[in-house]
Amino acid sequence: MQQVVLLVVAQRAPAHSGSPRELPDLHRPVLLHLTLTLVSVLNVAAMSEDSTTDAANVTRTALVTGGGSGIGRAVAVTLAQRGLDVLIVGRRPQALAATAELQAGIRYHVGDVSEPADIVEMVAAATEPGRLDVLVNNAGVGIPGPLGKIEPAAAKRTWAINVLGPTLLAQQALPFLLESRGAIVNISSTFGAKPAPGLSWYGATKAALEQLTRSWALELAPHGVRVNAVAPGPVESEALDRMGLARAEIEHIKADERDRIPLGRRGRPEDVASWVADLAVPASWVTGQVIGIDGGYLLA
Ligand SMILES: NC(=O)c1ccc[n+]([C@@H]2O[C@H](COP(=O)([O-])OP(=O)(O)OC[C@H]3O[C@@H](n4cnc5c(N)ncnc54)[C@H](OP(=O)(O)O)[C@@H]3O)[C@@H](O)[C@H]2O)c1
Repeated sequence: MQQVVLLVVAQRAPAHSGSPRELPDLHRPVLLHLTLTLVSVLNVAAMSEDSTTDAANVTRTALVTGGGSGIGRAVAVTLAQRGLDVLIVGRRPQALAATAELQAGIRYHVGDVSEPADIVEMVAAATEPGRLDVLVNNAGVGIPGPLGKIEPAAAKRTWAINVLGPTLLAQQALPFLLESRGAIVNISSTFGAKPAPGLSWYGATKAALEQLTRSWALELAPHGVRVNAVAPGPVESEALDRMGLARAEIEHIKADERDRIPLGRRGRPEDVASWVADLAVPASWVTGQVIGIDGGYLLA
């Protein structure tokens, strides 16, 4: 693409002065406009070729876990809007159906990512069209508790959903991703890197997911499969309600987070979804990265 843009500049240049550097100011806006137009035309062409269909013009397919609410719902809608066939999974059929009603191109399947047998069925449902290009490991839970109050059952469940589930999903999906030279996007959290009282175990599972991301990226790069993660800061979703906290406590946490986030607001699921979709685009030259989508929260 850069070569074509340079050609445009070179062709216009001699008519005026001999080199692009010496162009009269009058013509620079015209050239800039031409250049930007060409870049955006080529970008649109590249997007439609690279993100929704493969070289044989076959629709790409994505599996998004936890697509019935919050970030997963926004990711599913964004990918479907970009033309992918999207299968969402989760345990609540009504929540999944509500997401599917928002946007054409979204199918759903009920299952639990902590159940290995369900994972086999999820990947089978996702690959019904015959392929899988994108796996988004979004389903996650956070059960808060300071040291001294960490329940073994809750800790095991958090591990099973946040770490082992994504691992078994990636493993089950691997043959399809190898074939499509696809991508995995894992949803981590600011707390994968930022210590916080009461969130040690949640943070530890997200840190593990980030390390899996980097290791898998190295393992799969030779096969053209990319693995990345995003680490969202505080985002409006059902997550806090699910932690079993009192309403007043939730409002206090939200106000405190708003005050600490350098960009001055909590995130929206869409803030995260567009980055996930960009990382899922197969032509991208990014792998093994954990991208903070957090309004600067990690730094504060
Ligand atoms: N919101 C935030 O502030 C924030 C910040 C950083 C990272 N994150 C991460 O973002 C991801 C999405 O969270 P969210 O904020 O969008 O919260 P959410 O609205 O509670 O979404 C979590 C989703 O995961 C699904 N899920 C949970 N356990 C599951 C299981 N065992 N099997 C299948 N699906 C399961 C839930 O659906 P069912 O209950 O129907 O199964 C739900 O749709 C999580 O990994 C979370 O750790 C969130």
